Amino acid sequence: MDLFTAIEQRHCYRGGFTPDLIPRDHLRQIVQAGLQAPSGCNAQTTTFVIVDDPARLAEIAAILDRKPVREARALIVCIAEHRPVYNGLSFAVEDCAAAVENILLALTGLGYASVWLDGVLRVNDHARKIRKILGVPETREVRILLPVGRPSEPVTAREKLPFEKRAWFNQYENLT
Ligand SMILES: Cc1cc2nc3c(=O)[nH]c(=O)nc-3n(C[C@H](O)[C@H](O)[C@H](O)COP(=O)(O)O)c2cc1C
Repeated sequence: MDLFTAIEQRHCYRGGFTPDLIPRDHLRQIVQAGLQAPSGCNAQTTTFVIVDDPARLAEIAAILDRKPVREARALIVCIAEHRPVYNGLSFAVEDCAAAVENILLALTGLGYASVWLDGVLRVNDHARKIRKILGVPETREVRILLPVGRPSEPVTAREKLPFEKRAWFNQYENLT
């Protein structure tokens, strides 16, 4: 799929997934797109656990009991390492976000769907519980979780504001 088509067709999808298994080479290709994302000082602070074992998927779904997590054929767990890399600054969150967007575009290009789960990890101790299940060291944070599968329902687009309301050439336009 052409890059701009993938950008247009990427939508956060919260429906169910078909039972089709995801080949490991697709999962590798998808996560490789994340590894190739930019990162502050090229520190590459984001790491990933790809969960495709049904028992482990069920353990995580018991914590995050939501349709796309329950029905996902794989979960890509994105892990941030908050360490200073430039003048005492950490870019771990930005690094993770850049990797996730690449991953979302790659999986869209291969005909899969996902949803960026982030806020929901940061409540009710969810991120820590998933970190423990996966053996992630305490020094790292489970920051974003991406359920992956072939969508079994229509993937719908959210409305985006038009270019003129969010972007300008040469000068900010105050639209109030
Ligand atoms: C930082 C961030 C956090 C998000 N957290 C969640 C979340 O916890 N649960 C969820 O269902 N969607 C979450 N989303 C997805 C957004 O709701 C979604 O991107 C937004 O509604 C726009 O829809 P679109 O991705 O289809 O364009 C998050 C997205 C971002 C960028």
